[in-house]
Parts: sequence; C-alpha cells; structure tokens
Amino acid sequence: MIPAAGLGTRFLPATKAMPKEMLPVVDKPAIQYVVEEATAAGIDDVLIIIGRNKNNLSNHFDSVPELESTLERKGDHSKLAKVQHSSDLADIHFVRQGEPKGLGHAVLRARAHVGDHPFAVLLGDDLIDERDPLLTTMLEEHTKRGAAIVALMEVDPDSIHLYGAAAVEATDSDGVVKVTGLVEKPAKEDAPSNLAIIGRYVLSPSVFEILERTEPGKGGEIQLTDALQEMAADPDGPGVYGVVFRGRRYDTGDRVDYIKAIVQLAADREDLGPELRPWFKEFAAKL
Ligand code: UTP
Repeated sequence: MIPAAGLGTRFLPATKAMPKEMLPVVDKPAIQYVVEEATAAGIDDVLIIIGRNKNNLSNHFDSVPELESTLERKGDHSKLAKVQHSSDLADIHFVRQGEPKGLGHAVLRARAHVGDHPFAVLLGDDLIDERDPLLTTMLEEHTKRGAAIVALMEVDPDSIHLYGAAAVEATDSDGVVKVTGLVEKPAKEDAPSNLAIIGRYVLSPSVFEILERTEPGKGGEIQLTDALQEMAADPDGPGVYGVVFRGRRYDTGDRVDYIKAIVQLAADREDLGPELRPWFKEFAAKL
C-alpha cells in the first residue's frame, strides 16, 4: 500500500491542487517510481490511499485512449510506450482517507483490501534508487522472522527530529538489527540512536488491531511508529526488526531533497546526462 493522502504543506503552493506524490521527478511523478519499486520486488497488487485532489493521481494510472490513439497515428511508439507503461504496471486500487489523521490512520484504511496477508507500506514521497534495492531484502526478512520489518538509515543527529528513531540490538545477520524501542520525531538529546525509520515497512495484518486503539500522538496524528513501538515492546510477539539501508534515497516531500533527486537522477540518465553533466560542472564552478 502506498499512502498518498498527506497535505504536503512543505510544498505549498505546488500542492494546493495536486498531491505531492504527483510532483515530477525528471519526467515521471514521484509515485510512479514507488509503484515501479513495488513491482520490481514482485508485488503486483497496489493499493494507493488518496486524499483530496485524488483525481490527477488516479488518472495517471488509467489508460488515456485519446492520447494513445493520437500517438499511434503519429507513429510515435516510444512516447506511446511511456504513456501505456504507467497503466500496465500493476493492478492498482484506490481507497480514500477522508481526513489526513496521520500515517497510522492511512494504513488502517488498507485493512479491508489487505485481509489476512502480510503487506508492504511504501511512502509515496520517499524514493529508493532502483540501483540499490531494499524491499526484496525486507520481504525476505519478514518471511524468515514473521516480524514487522522497518527500513532504517543513519542520519545526521541534527535531523533525527524529523524521523522516527530506533533503539536497536545487533542480530546474527549483517545489516539486520532487532528494534527494541521507537520514538517518533524525538529531540536530538532524547533520540535513542541516529537510526531513522525511512518510508518502507513490511507488516502483518495484526498491526491493524493495534492501530485501531492507537491514540493520536506527535502532531495530534495517529502514528504508525507508536503502533510499531507497542509491537517492539511486546515480549510475547514476533517483534520488530530493521534492515539498515546504505543506498541512495530521496525524500521528495522535502524541497531540498526533491531538487537533489532531480539533479542526481537526471545526471545519471543516458538520454539527459551527457548534455547536463558539463552544464552542472560549469554552474557549480560559478557558485
Ligand atoms: P508526511 O508527514 O511526510 O506528509 O507523511 P505530509 O503531512 O503530507 O507532509 P507535510 O509535512 O505537510 O509537507 C508521510 C507520508 O504519509 C502520507 C503522506 O502522503 C506521505 O506519503 N500520509 C500522511 C497520509 O497518507 N495520510 C496522512 O494522514 C498523513
């Protein structure tokens, strides 16, 4: 499931009439990268949680017969393939979150669709570079341990207040830690570590029962981190484990990170990089 019902206030006014997950990163909306990441990990059923301004998000994954027939008539097969790709990616469903009451609340909206199966949560504004796959490892760890799996990344201690922070213990697997406690957006001095939860989770449906009774936490929102903290603290449950990610990640909900994502991804692209790279160097030299 991909929650995409937040207000995106950091990106106003761009997000006044458009979800931030639809902001283009080079030439694709951010959320398309996330759906592609899910399908690359073998997930072919995707539920997107939408809020206000839902239409342009759902339209993006629909076919557009007028556009397709025009491109076909013109014989522009490469553009036609691009248009068709987003509607052929996966079986995509939408559920509405009436009010943005927090990530935990958005996840709870997936309950009926998910049923009795484990599922992955991928935040629609958090991009993991396809060259550094993460989700496959997380799915494997979930199968192996039956536990909730979160993705963790070391961040600068000065930015830990923007994330959920994890207290961890080592396990016998390299790059996998046991999570012993979680705090949502702690002050630097209260953070148990500089390991931040980033936007990927693999969960069992038992999380829904916990979310049902999770009271609003930080920011008055129902926090997924608070439900995960309860799971981590339960001595009789399967617990919470973290896969430590050391690859490239772009938080496109943050303006500076969004610009960095576009610059990095465009510079690496075969079709755009050769023209852009010398220009970037020239530009940087003048700074
Ligand atoms: P954020 O906290 O980054 O989203 O939520 P936001 O509130 O939209 O952003 P700002 O701070 O106002 O700019 C993380 C993810 O959870 C989704 C968001 O769409 C984003 O993908 N979300 C958040 C929901 O789907 N529903 C919510 O109620 C809250």
